[in-house]
Amino acid sequence: MSKSRMKSSLYCSTALLILLAPTRWANRFAESRTSSHPALLLGTAWYPEQWPESRWETDLSLMHEAGIHVVRVGEFAWSRMESEEGHYDLDWLDRAIALAAKHQIYTVVGTPTAAPPAWLTQKYPETLRTAEDGRVVQHGNRQQFNWANPKYREFARKIAEQMAHRFGHNPNVLGWQIDNEYSEVSFDSRTRAQFQQWLKERYGTLDNLNARWTTEYWSQSYTAWDQIPIQVKYGNPGLLLSWMRFVSDTWRSYQKNQLDVIRANSDSGQFVTTNTMGAYDGFDHYTVLQDLDMAAWDDYVGEGHLDPVKNGAAHDLTRGFKEKNFWVMETQPGHVNWADINNSLDKGEVRAMAWHAIGHGADTVSYWQWRSAMNGQEQYHGTLLGADGTPVPLYPEVAQVGKEFEKASAVLAGTTVQSEVALLHSYESRWAIQWQPHNKNYDPKEEFLSYYGPLRAISQSVDILQPTSNLSHYKLVVAPGLNVLSEAAAKNLIAYVEGGGHLVLGQRSAMKDEDNSLQPERQPGPLAEFLGGRVEQYYALIGPVPLEGKWGAGECPLWAELLSAKNAATEVLMRYGKSNGWLDGQPAAITRQVGKGRVTYIGAWLDPKTMQQAAKWMTDTSAVKTPLPSVPEGVEVSVRQGEHGAVFVIINFAKTAQTFPLSRPMKDVLEGGEKTSVSLPVYGVAVLLAAH
Ligand code: GAL
Repeated sequence: MSKSRMKSSLYCSTALLILLAPTRWANRFAESRTSSHPALLLGTAWYPEQWPESRWETDLSLMHEAGIHVVRVGEFAWSRMESEEGHYDLDWLDRAIALAAKHQIYTVVGTPTAAPPAWLTQKYPETLRTAEDGRVVQHGNRQQFNWANPKYREFARKIAEQMAHRFGHNPNVLGWQIDNEYSEVSFDSRTRAQFQQWLKERYGTLDNLNARWTTEYWSQSYTAWDQIPIQVKYGNPGLLLSWMRFVSDTWRSYQKNQLDVIRANSDSGQFVTTNTMGAYDGFDHYTVLQDLDMAAWDDYVGEGHLDPVKNGAAHDLTRGFKEKNFWVMETQPGHVNWADINNSLDKGEVRAMAWHAIGHGADTVSYWQWRSAMNGQEQYHGTLLGADGTPVPLYPEVAQVGKEFEKASAVLAGTTVQSEVALLHSYESRWAIQWQPHNKNYDPKEEFLSYYGPLRAISQSVDILQPTSNLSHYKLVVAPGLNVLSEAAAKNLIAYVEGGGHLVLGQRSAMKDEDNSLQPERQPGPLAEFLGGRVEQYYALIGPVPLEGKWGAGECPLWAELLSAKNAATEVLMRYGKSNGWLDGQPAAITRQVGKGRVTYIGAWLDPKTMQQAAKWMTDTSAVKTPLPSVPEGVEVSVRQGEHGAVFVIINFAKTAQTFPLSRPMKDVLEGGEKTSVSLPVYGVAVLLAAH
């Protein structure tokens, strides 16, 4: 039994004593906030406002039994916290936090601004958002507010300030979540005026804007700022990109409005985050998250089962927002309620999913939600307790995760994911391709995953970063779809190659500039000279085109770029086979050694088998290591490094049990003892320490 578990059972057996002296116990727990909670936390979303206070104690005892160390509260409770304008009541939340502490459970406080109360939007209807079709969204769902509206921000700031005054120095509060899953924007005339003002600040003059957007085209030229519309698709590419930048900046200022009052009134040890949604691209997360302390996301599978590649990429993307460990703020206890078919994850899969998050750099996994509300829109969602208040069949599996997190905490404390490979990700590029896919089957997310999957399998660790990040310590940097290339990013990439790095550019790279205009040079624009080659023409394919070369014989299913090698030192890696005549025998992938560095361009969307070979070539050429070799297919390996050594999180996602030998003995963190081989049932998990 681990120490902290022993402490928990001790606590249970001394329940009477604690009941007699709740405050003392709470204080003792409180004192220990920053230093002594386990490094890995299990959590749940808890809505005490939905239940009689007399029930809280039972819920918290059941949470404690399940090894839950943190609850997130408050994020939809505005009507309880401010039932009338300016009448605040946070006493109940204070009591809930204190009671949770009594059960050794910390709290994350969510600001409730994703769900404004009815009195607010009734009295100030301008705070409601206008949908794209001009309809004003009404009360009764959530996210009905207008993120750009000054009146709404006034109220949001006040409630956040009240909360910060009350809980900002509460040692049982670990941190803050601002709002919840930013997503809905507004198309009202005031927001449009703000957008026009934003454009004025960015472009300075209409002449400049007109030139950069080539508005001579189709007589789009503007002679006054207030002529400029909001468009989200089929518009001028410069306008579309500007709107998304405005959306991102406005989320940032929306968040800052609350962040400032929280920071001003809270301990610096309390983190501030928000919960994002994985691959969701409704705003530029690099812009919005720059002001926060930590990234957190809501990890839902929805229909089907966990796809470790897709889900792993979402974890790595989230880790890359702040380039450090993150939290899974919400995840599904079995099933959701919003998919077409809300199937449950299989027995063991929820545990595997929790460990999958830890392997990719999460320090907390928190379930949404503890117990379903008796009414409201989400009655069918998975929970840990049924409507009757007793555990559901999944509860023991989650309790096992809780115990395991406690066991593994000492070894995983302070560990981080350290990668030799970075994949570059850009929202601007994704949007640009989505607005003009040119082939309806071209999904930039899928394209990204086509590189991520095989590279991750070889390196067992990949960082996903924005193109202006510091790249100097990576052996290999791959930019699968960097369609929009800013000057700053181009400089960063050139510096990386000059420093001896290997840069791989995927199809559609560097076609556009910062205004989503075409680059004046052929792709890859400012990098073409370096590459010693360029894209002569791109082809949307209606059927697969054969390919052959260094990576074997394969197919290019939906996109092909005809490349040329202009420099004697540029090597052709792959060529197209016979197809439309234009592509026949032409280069599909080229590479050039430049000083100690290298630039490679892959113009063809590769089939999975060829991509595997390409990934092998990329990693071999860059001397990228596989930390745990000879792992069977379907078994996912993640590594976190720390002072004790390397901690491997190994999960069997294959359809059958798997066994494989280890090249050196390792300490089994969950089961104890030393291991020289690994045997895992389906969804089995091993956490192994390879000490220095
Ligand atoms: C999330 C949301 C939660 C809950 C959950 C259900 O998107 O943040 O409040 O609705 O989905 O899956």
